[in-house]
Amino acid sequence: MTQVADRSVIMRLMFGAWLQQALYVVAKLDVADALAEGPTDIDTLAKRVGADPAALARFLRALISAGVFEEPETGRFALNGPAEYLRSTVADTHRYIAVLHGEEAYAACAEALHTARTGKPAFDKVYGRPYFEHIALDPEARATFDAAMGERTTVPVVVGQCDFGTEGVVVDVGGGTGSLLAQALSGRPGLTGVLYDLPESSADARANVERLGLADRIRVVGGSAFDEVPAGGDVYTISRVLHDFDDEQTLTILGNLRRAMTPGARLMVFDALLADRPGFNPGRMADLGMLMVLGGRYRTEAELRDLLGRAGFRVVEVRHARGADPRAESVLEAVPR
Ligand SMILES: C[S@@+](CC[C@H](N)C(=O)[O-])C[C@H]1O[C@@H](n2cnc3c(N)ncnc32)[C@H](O)[C@@H]1O
Repeated sequence: MTQVADRSVIMRLMFGAWLQQALYVVAKLDVADALAEGPTDIDTLAKRVGADPAALARFLRALISAGVFEEPETGRFALNGPAEYLRSTVADTHRYIAVLHGEEAYAACAEALHTARTGKPAFDKVYGRPYFEHIALDPEARATFDAAMGERTTVPVVVGQCDFGTEGVVVDVGGGTGSLLAQALSGRPGLTGVLYDLPESSADARANVERLGLADRIRVVGGSAFDEVPAGGDVYTISRVLHDFDDEQTLTILGNLRRAMTPGARLMVFDALLADRPGFNPGRMADLGMLMVLGGRYRTEAELRDLLGRAGFRVVEVRHARGADPRAESVLEAVPR
């Protein structure tokens, strides 16, 4: 009996890449949105999403065998609970992250062995340049990345628990399209923001800040945190950025933050913290992804505290998002020592 169970575990893992690609295909083709109005026959569905009916049915049946989607009658497909998360409009949609994982990140895995042997990102070997350089040069890849990051802004559960003060400037380093800043400034008219990210993301960031009606309160500044961080902030935030980088790079960013900050300024580091848990651990998967794609790493609270200490900060408070969501994030608040 034990042997049979063990074999099925291995079988499932061996087919992991196929399954991930099946998830990618349905996410990219927007199959879940096309099924939003109810069970649909495969010909109609395939026409709606621009797919070959026989092939699409096979992708869907593979996913059904893994618990996503249903086939209530032969040839008619429907959403089930997990498939609902692939709809683009639900609050906690996973559609865009499924697309992100299925494109360059997936292709990079072809050189996983290179990462295991050298400790270097597989992505750089496959694409000939680091990930952020790549997406800076490929607007479609950048848009996919931003859509996936934007989708994950349910995090501000923790942002909602933070004290940004009522007056002053919040500088968000690696702030993406500005969702965190928008939340920090919401209901606090005395605060203004600086959205600092790579220059190539500035146009999208500006457009989003305008869309949010915050162009008069948020200044978008393009630059690299490896070179410098804008001075003059009262609160500095850095959300889901440090896990993109190895310890040496992280110390460079934290050092630039420390130099930009006056003694009274505060730093809030938002990130998912690595923790051991029995069974399937999404944190370990995300950590492997960081290793292969960016050469980055997720860290335990102790590891992050250690880096902050080495960069000249003193951690004054740590808050964890509540709930069992594996993407639940934490915030470490620190001040210059
Ligand atoms: C994982 S995203 C996080 C975005 C946003 N802070 C959030 O929490 O959704 C990482 C961000 O860091 C930015 N980034 C990467 N390298 C950077 C650098 N050297 N300097 C400034 N920002 C950088 C990326 O452009 C991207 O917007």
